[in-house]
Amino acid sequence: MSKIHVKMTVNGREVEALAEPRQLLIHHLREDLRITGPHIGCETSHCGACTVDMDGKSVKACTVFVAQADGAEITTVEGLVNADGSLGVIQEMFREHHGLQCGFCTPGMITRAHRLLQENPNPTEEEVRFGMSGNLCRCTGYQNIVKAILAAAASLNAQKEAAE
Ligand code: FES
Ligand code: FES
Repeated sequence: MSKIHVKMTVNGREVEALAEPRQLLIHHLREDLRITGPHIGCETSHCGACTVDMDGKSVKACTVFVAQADGAEITTVEGLVNADGSLGVIQEMFREHHGLQCGFCTPGMITRAHRLLQENPNPTEEEVRFGMSGNLCRCTGYQNIVKAILAAAASLNAQKEAAE
């Protein structure tokens, strides 16, 4: 199949490459661009390990063709660090509240949590559980993931108030 020229902004950096239009975004990110934060779990849109942010929405990168992402703005877990390279708030709260064990689901969880908190900066526990329901974890039982996201919401809100 002939390749197409795709251009996207990933974690603030413009990237261009030749790719088969039917290639999945997750393969393009991991294999062509070497951005390996998003993981491949099921490849059938169930687990959420491949979650990235695309044009302000959470998407499962195993369900997006690279041709559909042409011109898009993509953020992966790598793009959620602070400007100085230290862990971003959500990442730090996952660390502090033990929101991970093996870590396989974590990049997708954190990227999804980022979008959830953009959409709803003050979620209830129930809203966090519902908002994260497309992301599966085989290790933690979810309790500490929920705690981490609620703590991240509180921390981000405190930062916003302090800046006002
Ligand atoms: Fe995409 Fe599981 S790898 S949802
Ligand atoms: Fe192991 Fe979630 S921490 S799958």
